[in-house]
Amino acid sequence: TQILKFKEQLENSKKIVFLTGAGISVASGIPDFRSMGGLFDEITKDGYSPEYLLSHQHLVDDKESFANFYQKRLLLANKKPNVAHTFIAELEQSGQSLGVVTQNIDGLHRDAGSNHVDELHGSLNDYYCIGCKAQYTKRRILDEKLKYCTKCNDVLRPDIVLYGEMLDELTVLSAVNKISSADMLIVIGSSLVVHPAASFIEYFNDDHLIIINKDKTPYDEQASIVFNTDVVEIIEKINELKES
Ligand code: OAD
Ligand code: ZN
Repeated sequence: TQILKFKEQLENSKKIVFLTGAGISVASGIPDFRSMGGLFDEITKDGYSPEYLLSHQHLVDDKESFANFYQKRLLLANKKPNVAHTFIAELEQSGQSLGVVTQNIDGLHRDAGSNHVDELHGSLNDYYCIGCKAQYTKRRILDEKLKYCTKCNDVLRPDIVLYGEMLDELTVLSAVNKISSADMLIVIGSSLVVHPAASFIEYFNDDHLIIINKDKTPYDEQASIVFNTDVVEIIEKINELKES
C-alpha cells in the first residue's frame, strides 16, 4: 500500500527535506488559514479581508488597528508541537534529514527540537518596535502585556512577513539550497497556493515528492505519493510500523 511505500522511501533516503504549512499545526490547536473555520473565515466575520489585515499597507494606514489585530488573532499562548513536528525533529537528529522549510509563523518546529528550520514567513516568537527597532520576545510581550515600545512608545510588531513585504533573502537562499539537494521532499499541511513558497517545489530534483494534505493541491499530479488525510493519522501509522 501507499503507507508501506512511504515507509520504505523514508528508510532509504538520507537527505529528506520537509516543506510545511499551517495544516501541520492544526492538531496543536492552531487553526489554518484557508480551511472552513480557519483564520480567514474568522477574520472575514469581523468584516475585513484577511489579505488586508495581514498586509504592510494595514500597518502603514493604521498601526493601532494593526496592533489590535495581531494581539487579538496572532498572539499564540501555550501552543505545543504535536507528533508531526516531533517526527520531523527526530529525523533531523538521526542524521537522515537536512531540515524543514516552513511557511508557518508559530515557531513550533523549533519548539519540537528542529535546528535547521527556514521560517520563510518569519516567526511570532520575535517582535520589534516599528520606530526604534528594539527587539522583544513573545514571552515579554505576553508577560508584560506589551503593545508599545518601552523605550520610544511606538507600536510593536511581530517579525513576520506581511503581504506586500519581501521574504528574507538569506532564508530563501537556505530554503532553496535544502530543497535542491534533497533526495526526498515531504510536503505537509499546505494548500500550496502562496508564492514563492509553493514554487520552491520546482527546485526539487529527485523523484520522491510526497504530499500529505487534507485537501488537494496544485502539485498533487507531480507527487509520487499523495495522502489526502490528516497528517497525525499518517505519522501515527508510520510510527506503529517502525515499532513492529
Ligand atoms: P492554508 O490554510 O492555505 O492551507 C493549509 C492546508 O492544510 C489546507 O489545504 C488543509 O487541507 C490542510 N490541513 C488542515 N488540517 C490538516 C491536517 N490535520 N492534516 C493534514 N492537512 C491538513 O495554509 P498555508 O498553505 O500554510 O502567510 O498558507 C500559506 C500562507 O498563507 C501562510 O504562511 C500565511 C498565509 O498568508 C503568512 O502568515 C505570512
Ligand atoms: Zn521603540
